[in-house]
Amino acid sequence: MFEIKAKDNMGRVGVLKTKHGDVKTPALMPVIHPRKQAIDVAKYGADIVITNAYLIYKDDELKKEAVEKGLHELIHFDGPIMTDSGSFQLSVYGDVEITNKEVLEFQELIQTDIGTSLDIPTAPFVDREKAEEDLKITIERAKEAVAFKKENNIEMLLNSVVQGSTFLDLRRECAKELSALDADLYPIGAVVPLMESYHYKDLVDVVMNSMKELSDTVPRHLMGAGHPMIFALCVAMGCDLFDSAAYILYAEDDRLLSTRGTFKLENLQEMPCSCEVCTKYTPDDLRAMPKKQRRDLIAQHNLHVSFAELRLIRQAIYDGNLMELVEERCRAHPALLEAVRHLSNYSEDLEKYDPRSKKSAFFYTGPESLGRSEVLRHIQKLRQMPKKRDLIILPSSKKPYSKFISGKLGDFYAYGDDHEIDFDDTDFMVLDIPFGLIPLEIDEVYPLSQSDAPKTRDVDSMEFIEDFVSEFIEYYDQVLIHKRVAGDLDMDLSEGEMYGGDVRYQKDDVKKVKAIADYQFGIGAGEALFKGNINIEKSKKTGKIRHIYDGKTLIVNMRASDSYLILSKEGAKRLHSAMPYPQNRVVVNEDSVPFALDGKSVFCKFVVECDENIRAKDEVLIVDEDDKLLAYGKSLLGACEIEQFETGQAIKTRKGMKK
Ligand code: GUN
Ligand code: ZN
Repeated sequence: MFEIKAKDNMGRVGVLKTKHGDVKTPALMPVIHPRKQAIDVAKYGADIVITNAYLIYKDDELKKEAVEKGLHELIHFDGPIMTDSGSFQLSVYGDVEITNKEVLEFQELIQTDIGTSLDIPTAPFVDREKAEEDLKITIERAKEAVAFKKENNIEMLLNSVVQGSTFLDLRRECAKELSALDADLYPIGAVVPLMESYHYKDLVDVVMNSMKELSDTVPRHLMGAGHPMIFALCVAMGCDLFDSAAYILYAEDDRLLSTRGTFKLENLQEMPCSCEVCTKYTPDDLRAMPKKQRRDLIAQHNLHVSFAELRLIRQAIYDGNLMELVEERCRAHPALLEAVRHLSNYSEDLEKYDPRSKKSAFFYTGPESLGRSEVLRHIQKLRQMPKKRDLIILPSSKKPYSKFISGKLGDFYAYGDDHEIDFDDTDFMVLDIPFGLIPLEIDEVYPLSQSDAPKTRDVDSMEFIEDFVSEFIEYYDQVLIHKRVAGDLDMDLSEGEMYGGDVRYQKDDVKKVKAIADYQFGIGAGEALFKGNINIEKSKKTGKIRHIYDGKTLIVNMRASDSYLILSKEGAKRLHSAMPYPQNRVVVNEDSVPFALDGKSVFCKFVVECDENIRAKDEVLIVDEDDKLLAYGKSLLGACEIEQFETGQAIKTRKGMKK
């Protein structure tokens, strides 16, 4: 029913399948008023819309028509339609004249594609007692809805709404209970008051805590989120669906949406975009128009910018620069900037879903970029790697650094034990923003080389690096810091003496590929892969390593774009025999053994277990339940997703061991 096509952080481009057609996600569902609708939303890019079943139910005329002709005829839309249940009215008026069972039956009767149970939207910041009471009812009703669907063998897809107010443990508990129910979609509810009051930081907490327990296999809908300014942030947190009444509500109020915020028509000297409306009319034209005509034109602009933003977001996911877009968008308002800064408290969650390699380079857009998954991942890897006795820290240069380093490397201050440096027992690292320290052997690997930051450094990133370096140098007996680096770092240099000897870096391709293998597959992979008569072939044009052999047997290829290693059959065998289970492995069940051996791709439903460190685009080993190597390939999803999905491909197999 839902398949992931591309990923970046927790954002995904996906396809939601319904009986009225497929929906490309992240998607925006314009809210359709069954009586007042004046705009053809499909024209602006809506694949799916949302309307309110309770409003139809309460209106005898609409109800009769919906029951007789079906919802699609009633609102003149032949794509998928989601309906809400009256919960929002419940939250505004305190009561509704319908039961959970009745609203479910009614939605089924009028042939909605995706129906919603009668959840209770508990406002933010209420008493704990109130939140708990409401949540109990919300969960009971969600259970009743799932049972109703099962008993009556109903095709309608079901929304189970996550509630819990601003109590993060309640959000997690609710998400966990609902995920166990196996509903079809999981909206996150009662966030409208947070957005209206610019509590975006709390929104991050509510969404990220819900996401912690929500299944990855279902679309998540941020209910009532319709301002394009926040779409990128919410997509990066894992939201797949948005609904917008904002396009028309803001238009009623003479307000124009934009990714930079909201414009009041009364203040506009210029039209803010290049949509049909903005190019045809001036602000004066609009102001002079009758109310209804003006409202519809502004609504059209609002829809245009909202759908344009979603297209841009999906493209950013394909390109792998969603976070750059998020950081850009969050500069539209200080409360959003605070939210994106707060998101860095969840970088471990985001990292689990983030592909290790992307098409786009990592662009540092400001101190918020220090909180991204790539930075966290690199720092964690550095902490884990085995350390040599001494460390030499070099200043940054053009990338890849190792290509531009030669000869005597300048003057150094020495810290720690005073002894003659043995360069074979020394780690050479470059200090740079935002990855802190970059070992020279792996400096070509994504994103260490495929990244850029302004040369003029900001205080936050310098502080970040100083903190990390002061922690990291503790692992070493003696540390030599290049004079230029020492000048940049505001560290206590009182104990530093000038180092007397020459410092030179000896390039060594075998050491380099071993270090890359360790970085990519885990410590020990380099020694295991590259033993025997190692023979390294480079590109004549670029000088980059392309193929690595033992004698004439190919072990790995090195991908030019990100310098990651691509296993050959021999490479897979070596990695498998050296690395302990379950590292780098995806375990498939008995039924799929012959298919894997044959080189057929692996589907999620056949995977019984996998290494929790696998991320989308990793090279992986495919084994049976006795850890016999069957095949090797490239993962399309992260470990969390592979384990949860029951449909779709998990691994694109490169080769089966039979062939
Ligand atoms: N629309 C906006 N917020 C909510 C919510 O919490 N629940 C439902 N059912 N609809 C909503
Ligand atoms: Zn416009």
